[in-house]
Amino acid sequence: MNLINLATHAPKAELHLHIEGSFEPELMFEIAQRNQVKLPFASVEEIRAAYDFSNLQEFLDIYYQGMSVLLVERDFYDLTWAYLQRAAADNVIHCEIFFDPQGHTERGVAFAHAIGGISRALADGQIRLGISSKLIMCFLRHLSEEEALATWEEAQPFLSLIDGVGLDSSELGHPPSKFANVFAKAKQAGLHLVAHAGEEGPPEYVWEALDDLQVTRIDHGNRALEDEALVARMASENTCLTVCPLSNLKLCVIERIEDHPIRDMLNAGLLAMINSDDPSYFGGYVNANYHAVINALDLTRSEIETLLRNSFIGSFMDDSDKAEALAKLDAYVTQARFAK
Ligand code: HPA
Ligand code: ZN
Repeated sequence: MNLINLATHAPKAELHLHIEGSFEPELMFEIAQRNQVKLPFASVEEIRAAYDFSNLQEFLDIYYQGMSVLLVERDFYDLTWAYLQRAAADNVIHCEIFFDPQGHTERGVAFAHAIGGISRALADGQIRLGISSKLIMCFLRHLSEEEALATWEEAQPFLSLIDGVGLDSSELGHPPSKFANVFAKAKQAGLHLVAHAGEEGPPEYVWEALDDLQVTRIDHGNRALEDEALVARMASENTCLTVCPLSNLKLCVIERIEDHPIRDMLNAGLLAMINSDDPSYFGGYVNANYHAVINALDLTRSEIETLLRNSFIGSFMDDSDKAEALAKLDAYVTQARFAK
């Protein structure tokens, strides 16, 4: 079996996926029409043509505009269900997805509508597609910590549906330490903690995410490689890095896909794995991300197997589910060695 097919058909987990970033233009138009909301684009082609970004902020401006057509529970259900079907086609058997409640509540959409639709689709994903999932609520770092704390309070009636909290949006100028209090509350409530860091921001932001927020997983983390002591620490603590190659390319974190640091991360002993981030905006779902780095970096069979294994090891599955998923992957990898 060639290595592209190996990655394509392997059971895998996706741990860095913004559900609002999986919003395909076709569905965006359908929901806009249903809700009688006007989009500033005339066609699907016009929307796709606007997806040309030179940094994170340029993407975020369009991302918030896109999600503004989501108004009621059904919209969030349809969005999430569309992602799950696409993920199933890529042989994702477990996903941990982000949502941005402040991107909705600040437009007057009820927190209950957003989380209700998303979690109902996730439950259906388990039953109808066999995909297990976790839900991670992100705070928008360009807003204040007071606003994050208000969102934390709003989330209280729904805590049984929330597995973790994260931090996303504009990184530069918004260090993790700004959110130490709200993360302390989430930790006390027993939630998992993650944060975007080192995508555009400096290694100091990764240190802060680890020390001040106490996260156990770093989303992106590319710039951690600039700091040897930081790499050594994350390697020794088995801190997972949720890496997003096509996102990095589209947002100009790297110039060419051949420059992607995924192999350097593995060679440094980091628990890196592959994700799609915002697949509708960045040109591909998780398998397309595997394919991009396999082709550009000529990854070996062993490197690909490590990335796939890391996708489960870095997850928040409980120990028995994790062992079962890893056994499934091992069985797949073993038979793939003998397959044509
Ligand atoms: N980085 C920061 N914030 C985001 C991203 C990202 O890649 N995607 C959606 N929100
Ligand atoms: Zn992200």
